[in-house]
Amino acid sequence: MLHTFLFLILLTIFAVHIQAQASYGVDCSFPIHGKDFRCGDLLGDRHNFYEHFMEGCRKHYGSKANRCDVTENDRIAMSIRQPQSMVNFTDAGFMKIKAPTEVMSLLTQHWETNKANMKEEKWAAGNVYVNHWETPSYLVSVEDQSLRGGGYNLKTKIWDAAKSTIQQWTGMELKPTSMYGIRMYTEGAVLSPHVDRLPLVSSCIINVDQDVDEPWPLEVYDRQGNAVNVTMEPGDMVLYESGSLIHGRPFPLKGRFFANIFIHFEPTGRPLHATTDQHVDELDDFLPPYLVPGSPEIAHWTSQNPGGWKKPSPSAPIQQAAAPEAHFAAATGDFERLQQIVKKDKRMLNTQDANGWRALHEAIRFGDKDIVEFLVKNGAEKNARTGNVGQGSSPLNLALQFHDEKHPVVLYLREIGAEDIAEGEL
Ligand SMILES: *[C@@H]1O[C@H](CO)[C@@H](O)[C@H](O)[C@H]1NC(C)=O
Ligand SMILES: *[C@@H]1O[C@H](CO)[C@@H](O)[C@H](O)[C@H]1NC(C)=O
Repeated sequence: MLHTFLFLILLTIFAVHIQAQASYGVDCSFPIHGKDFRCGDLLGDRHNFYEHFMEGCRKHYGSKANRCDVTENDRIAMSIRQPQSMVNFTDAGFMKIKAPTEVMSLLTQHWETNKANMKEEKWAAGNVYVNHWETPSYLVSVEDQSLRGGGYNLKTKIWDAAKSTIQQWTGMELKPTSMYGIRMYTEGAVLSPHVDRLPLVSSCIINVDQDVDEPWPLEVYDRQGNAVNVTMEPGDMVLYESGSLIHGRPFPLKGRFFANIFIHFEPTGRPLHATTDQHVDELDDFLPPYLVPGSPEIAHWTSQNPGGWKKPSPSAPIQQAAAPEAHFAAATGDFERLQQIVKKDKRMLNTQDANGWRALHEAIRFGDKDIVEFLVKNGAEKNARTGNVGQGSSPLNLALQFHDEKHPVVLYLREIGAEDIAEGEL
């Protein structure tokens, strides 16, 4: 009797779970490969929703209404043509992690200092990427020199601080190509699913701040072609191969605002661990390393880049500091990679990034007790503090900021007698 009861409860939970996670492919939430909706009303009346969306654009642009349709058809053509033409550098095409603390502090400072002076974002006539005719978007641009601290210098600092994470993720040396934001979306905003124009290839989105009633999902399509909702809290970073991964926010934002930034790089063609210049000889004489020769994008790319892609000149191997690799492995819970790193050189465990963070701090924030224990047993200092002069949080203090008292990481650190020392405490 009791068993049957429990079984029924489990079945109900399971059924609800399945319903909430209905799986679907393209052209269900929004037109991606075509305008015929394929999923009936699985997601409500999306057809009607879309008609209203396009009508809004046409009405707003009046005599230039046809531009809405031109941009829209371009978006769809690009979503068909480009993904199949791209070389992918990662298995999944996307990954959510916590943004490196240095990136986050640069962004938070710019946001907090300047958000009172945000400017309404201007869109070209007929742009259908955001329903700006219905809900305005705003910019606190990192390159805006009229804002305090804004300008190329800040942009460079953010690129530098974000680069190693994305290099570790893709396994390729990268160079910056674009940075856009901080963009603030407002209530009702929709971002049409799309892929980014080249050379925006290896990228990340960072949630800087939000005031929402429920998480506003970023919808991406996995390698099987199924939609996945990725939700983000402030401080979260989604790594994504933006030239090949369809991404958008087709469900209207519920809440006051959502502020994020997009940071983009392109691969130079040099694998991160290359020790020779051999890869330079292997690069195509005309195409960039991220395009599949003979693919549908080639004609379009060639028309945009008649001179071809500029091959990097042979240079000394990158001085790949040890820190980023151990940090990235710890920040993403990659136990296997950490074990390999430790095998090679244990000293990496105590190297620090620009904010004084070590692999142990990242592992604590990620929240895997086995990894934390492994690091401590291999010589990571249990009371090592963050901060570039060692005045930041101790590991236990950090654990308590990210997790509760009963979390296995907290329990473990207490068990080994780690001290709870707050930032600034002597
Ligand atoms: C994504 O979120 C939307 C809005 O909450 C929901 O309707 C949809 O079913 C979700 N999709 C997936 C794949 O979970
Ligand atoms: C790269 O990823 C996209 C999106 O997942 C996929 O459509 C494409 O076929 C992949 N490219 C290759 C060369 O496999």
